[in-house]
Amino acid sequence: MTVSSVTTAMKVTGEFPVPRSPMPKPGRCVVIILGAEGDLAHRKLWPALFRLFLDDGMPDEFAIVGVERDTATNDEAFRAVVAGALKAAGIDDAVSQERWSEFARRLFYVAADLGTAEGYAELHRRLETVDQTVPDVQGHLFHLALPPSLYPSVIRQLAAADLLPKSRDPADRPWTRVVIEKPFGHDGVSAQALQRGARRVMAEHQLYRIDHYLGKETVQNLLVLRFANSLFETSWNRHYVEEVQITASETLGVEHRGTYYEEAGVVRDVFQNHLLQLLTLTAMEPPTAFGADSVRDEKVKVLRAIRPVQPDAAVRGQYGPGHLDGVDVRGYRQEEHVAPKSQTPTYGAMRFTIDNWRWQGVPFFVRAGKRLAASGTEIAIRFRRPPLMLFPAEAGERLASNLLVARIQPREGISLCFDVKVPGMAMQARTVEMDFAYAEGFGTQEHDAYETLLLDAMLGDQTLFMRSDEVEAAWAIVDPLLAYWEAQPPDRFPNYAAGSAGPPEADELMARSGGKWRGLGANS
Ligand code: BG6
Repeated sequence: MTVSSVTTAMKVTGEFPVPRSPMPKPGRCVVIILGAEGDLAHRKLWPALFRLFLDDGMPDEFAIVGVERDTATNDEAFRAVVAGALKAAGIDDAVSQERWSEFARRLFYVAADLGTAEGYAELHRRLETVDQTVPDVQGHLFHLALPPSLYPSVIRQLAAADLLPKSRDPADRPWTRVVIEKPFGHDGVSAQALQRGARRVMAEHQLYRIDHYLGKETVQNLLVLRFANSLFETSWNRHYVEEVQITASETLGVEHRGTYYEEAGVVRDVFQNHLLQLLTLTAMEPPTAFGADSVRDEKVKVLRAIRPVQPDAAVRGQYGPGHLDGVDVRGYRQEEHVAPKSQTPTYGAMRFTIDNWRWQGVPFFVRAGKRLAASGTEIAIRFRRPPLMLFPAEAGERLASNLLVARIQPREGISLCFDVKVPGMAMQARTVEMDFAYAEGFGTQEHDAYETLLLDAMLGDQTLFMRSDEVEAAWAIVDPLLAYWEAQPPDRFPNYAAGSAGPPEADELMARSGGKWRGLGANS
């Protein structure tokens, strides 16, 4: 598609920069991070909790307990670890420094081995003391920042140590909630086993399954874009939409997560969760209300309408050595903790088919990969051309079909391409682009996804968390493909160079449907 360089920016009208609305305030609680010094806590949880505190989103009284096995660490040493995480996240301005001591005095460390009953007994004892520091404490939030394989035993042992009382009613006080991270299971069968184990000791309203994509501002904006604007909703169907392309490309490799990634691969890492969530929010029917169950009911319906992916509608790839941003980078098989002959895919491209009235016949092409030429996550909706084109394109140009692109990241925003008359005597048309960028339009910094999700978990709002039936429906879509790929080793891995646009097979998949992938980085 040739899109003219004529781009018009859209601005937000009214007071600028737009003032922030006040954060809802959760009730007093204690947050317990299991795996307090791990990668997730370090990169995401500590910065998010502190930013929430700076934004006045933490309860007026709270405590945070970090749990790790290290007996040499005490409260003071632990506070220094957290301060280090904040610094690494770039939070060390003067205001933050001032408020740091207020935050730090609410941080406590518990050395406990979560593999033993004694570890949980110790946690129980220490929590009783910490609870005393939060007058009228209303709840406990356990965040399992641990390898997913530990979830079943940790949940069971929390319950056995009386740390996780089963609740009948979401209104019960004090509440106890457990947050876990994707991937939920390794496949449909293990996801069901995890679910059965959890349901034995707790209610569904106590379990918060994080897919951090749902906490992203731009992902939530998909709902607003679709359901607050009748303009888009009326054409959001097979009569007007020709195809949908969803891309999540990363320049990063697997970094130091080789062990995890070798087990996961691209399908479990991002397709079964983040990408199917993007697809679902794009394709779902309007919910009757913006409530946890109404939204998730509609999501489950569309997930169940997606046909399990067949091997001939999917392509896998693995990066080899290459060149990225001016430097030589190693291939996946040369990364730390990766087998020298690993068959793990780091790239996937798939064509999804949705069997319902709205989407019958509209292909949803989805691709994701590591070590690609550019980073960017977007959803591009291409509309059908008019049945009869009355106007020629301007000399040297080609008219593109209408295209709506929701940029999830970077340059978060939305763009719309449409045709206009070229000024002059001749009736010639040209495609132009209207562009809305959040940062320029609103002039505010977005909240990190984890801030939103941790706040919602403290508030008891499950709208942005995955429900068990959603998780199972998503596994049902990819399970047959995973089984096939695991039984049939790839013909040639690595099949794309780091820094490239991915394997040529992905272009062939597209070409079979007569289409072409959008350029990587087209949205930045
Ligand atoms: C994580 C995956 O869930 O999402 C990573 O495990 C991936 O492999 C990351 O890099 C992408 O998240 P974001 O927010 O950077 O797009």
